[in-house]
Amino acid sequence: MKIRYLLALSLLALACQPQPQTDTAAATPTYDEPWRPQVHYSPPSQWMNDPNGMVYHEGEYHLFYQHYPDSNVWGPMHWGHAVSTDLVHWEQLPIALYPDSLGYIFSGSAVVDAHNTSGLAPTGQVPMVAIFTYHEPVGAEAGRLDHQTQGIAYSLDRGRSWTKYEGNPVLPNPGIRDFRDPKVFWHAESEHWVMILAVADRIHLYRSPNLLDWTFASEFGAEYGAHGGVWECPDLFPLTLDGQEWWVLLLSINPGGPNGGSATQYFVGDFDGQTFTSHYPAGQTLWIDEGKDNYAGVTWSGIPAADGRRLFLGWMSNWQYANVVPTTAWRSAMTLPRRLDLWAGPDGPRLANRPVREVAQLEGNPKALPVGGLESIPSAPISAPMVLRVQIIPGAERRCGLTFANGQGERLGIDYRGDSLYVDRSEAGRAGFSADFAGRHGAPLGAVDTLTLDIYLDVASVEVFAQGGRLALTEIVFPEQPYEQLQFHGAGTLVSAKCAPLERIWP
Ligand code: FRU
Repeated sequence: MKIRYLLALSLLALACQPQPQTDTAAATPTYDEPWRPQVHYSPPSQWMNDPNGMVYHEGEYHLFYQHYPDSNVWGPMHWGHAVSTDLVHWEQLPIALYPDSLGYIFSGSAVVDAHNTSGLAPTGQVPMVAIFTYHEPVGAEAGRLDHQTQGIAYSLDRGRSWTKYEGNPVLPNPGIRDFRDPKVFWHAESEHWVMILAVADRIHLYRSPNLLDWTFASEFGAEYGAHGGVWECPDLFPLTLDGQEWWVLLLSINPGGPNGGSATQYFVGDFDGQTFTSHYPAGQTLWIDEGKDNYAGVTWSGIPAADGRRLFLGWMSNWQYANVVPTTAWRSAMTLPRRLDLWAGPDGPRLANRPVREVAQLEGNPKALPVGGLESIPSAPISAPMVLRVQIIPGAERRCGLTFANGQGERLGIDYRGDSLYVDRSEAGRAGFSADFAGRHGAPLGAVDTLTLDIYLDVASVEVFAQGGRLALTEIVFPEQPYEQLQFHGAGTLVSAKCAPLERIWP
């Protein structure tokens, strides 16, 4: 973070001078630029990081995001804004929140205040309320500890225009340097709003009757989870497994992820409206995604009970190299929207994630590939974006997988070895922009009888969902030319393989 703040300060200083034209941002995006994702949300231009304020309201899924409209590197943060009626196709809207005298607009959430508990709407109307962190850059640079506070803004016109609350900040800083990323939800049982906040490497919970007045409720995390970096972007929500309700706490950490840099861990336990208690013992770490590029993900608020899903979106990058990946007109994309579910793991409930069913509308006619012994499968022509579904019975030595390759000898591998599953981007394309980029990343999957993989390949990313999403691996790649061949390798039997093109989401 420190480096980013220094960078932002120099950008602020630069903003006062005439600017050289560094970017093609002003040009209308074609969404055909090299490495432009075809089935993932990316901003029309310039910098994007965390998803923010995701809320469903009157038929629209809102996606706000950390955005710097003046450059393709991180800087003074705004909330960019897009909406979708199907989670897949996005309509770009004007920037929702601009920095002001209280600071940059860092990450946070949004809710529909259905009973107007805040009184921010005239009687009979329902405000949409955004709750975010103000990051005051001058205080930050001066080393003050109180430069991050929580503020709110509201909209009475379906998120099209926003008014900052005049009493901001609603939660001042108690003297803790990293104090940010509020996720707010209504806790029906106790009839209170709850705010979960990342505070250094702990979670703080606050409660409020009206979104304006907040009282400290509890702390979680001293002995739990990974602590190799600062905790950021928490979320807390219930999920049901076999009729039993559990609470899931999501939490991003940077650095300190299992593959280096940024990653998102989770806890499963109970929440009584005041305090979160972990089902798992201290010291156990669980990750929502074992690839290197799924960070700061949180879930949508306001999904109707009739839908009942818990919908998630993450930022498909990693702070180790997010600012230097080789795109210029825009920087970075979101993961596919995913649904989160619990499954009965060896020692308790575990989180599974897989793309939402709405993504299937993009699928063209599936093509069945020849099956049989892996060593005898001919290589097949492919092109991204596409989804590939395979089932492989691994041979006795458990070494098998597949590779996407291009004519330049670049190879993106998905390998099952010694009961772990990996994405190997060591030779997948351009990587010289960061020593932390190339490599093989993965995690134990266990000894499976049949390896079931759903693989979503976009032009600059791969998302692998194994065993119905029990293990997810998300990685970005920058091939110098598109992958055009699929090859299988290792020992085992390919029992089924289907490949379907995905229609691009941009007009
Ligand atoms: C996470 C994060 C948040 C912060 C935002 C700033 O990636 O560092 O903690 O609010 O990005 O852009």
